[in-house]
Amino acid sequence: MKIGFIGAGKVGFSLGKFFSENNVRVTGYYSRNQGSTEEAASFTNSEAYYELKDIISDSDALFLTVPDSEINSVYEDIKAYNIVGKYLLHCSGAVSSTDVFGDIDKYGAFGLSIHPLFPFNDKYTAYRGLKDAFFCIEAREKDAATLWEKELGLLGLKTKNIWGKNKAEYHLACVYASNLVCSLFELSRRHLENCGFSHEEIFKALTPLAKSNLENILSVGPHKALSGPVERGDKETVKKHLSLLSGREKDVYALLSITATELAKQKQGDNGNIQDIKDFLEKEVLQ
Ligand SMILES: NC(=O)c1ccc[n+]([C@@H]2O[C@H](COP(=O)([O-])OP(=O)(O)OC[C@H]3O[C@@H](n4cnc5c(N)ncnc54)[C@H](OP(=O)(O)O)[C@@H]3O)[C@@H](O)[C@H]2O)c1
Repeated sequence: MKIGFIGAGKVGFSLGKFFSENNVRVTGYYSRNQGSTEEAASFTNSEAYYELKDIISDSDALFLTVPDSEINSVYEDIKAYNIVGKYLLHCSGAVSSTDVFGDIDKYGAFGLSIHPLFPFNDKYTAYRGLKDAFFCIEAREKDAATLWEKELGLLGLKTKNIWGKNKAEYHLACVYASNLVCSLFELSRRHLENCGFSHEEIFKALTPLAKSNLENILSVGPHKALSGPVERGDKETVKKHLSLLSGREKDVYALLSITATELAKQKQGDNGNIQDIKDFLEKEVLQ
């Protein structure tokens, strides 16, 4: 399978590097800017393409690693060429294969989405963590899904097949566990800054707290990992926190704390204190 990439950004760079390091033939890159195209080609020891038709004819499979908003228009451009027997893949978590490749049968090609559950924050280094990543495959055709499951399996990658109708909810789940954690850390950072912590001290101080917490969540589940005022049924501390907050952040704290009351009950039952916190948050804070 010769694989080409349209879109030389973080995911294109990283998948290309991972594939080439694992002896998968990467034909090369075609991207909006010549600079990115050449940089990606040099990083992966592959070709820089300046014509869409050339990368299409040289590749058996094309990964459309462009922003979600560009996937449809890139597919429209690709369809103008002969794509019989080729695999077109996009990597969006939220968009299904049918959303993009709904008419692909007419062109004799196969369309799939393959979403790596991985935060690609840097185009030069992210590939190093990919061997442990989970890849979610979603395809209109069972055979196409099976083929890519096998291809990725040969590289030692873990895969899971999901239905197109579940993609938005699947992606929502990924965002909760990843992107929105960044937002929570930003809120934490701002409050520690208010308390006189320097940038360096903030992340040193948070590292053991956050690392142990994450390890606990991943090994025993969120309910058993839960500690803190809600788990202790300590309504006075919850009230103190709320007194520091206003507007949207107050709502975020209340909403997340309500979920924490549900986890606390799951962990240890309720002596009335936890339900009291939940009622207080629902009736007096969120109204
Ligand atoms: N980042 C993540 O953590 C992550 C994780 C899983 C899945 N994904 C998915 O992977 C896909 C790519 O995301 P990304 O993070 O790699 O985005 P990105 O870093 O913004 O890269 C996208 C690249 O696409 C190129 N591009 C944009 N419009 C184009 C067009 N019309 N034709 C050709 N090239 C075009 C741009 O290249 P130029 O530099 O040439 O302008 C840009 O570098 C998205 O579908 C995203 O949902 C991302």
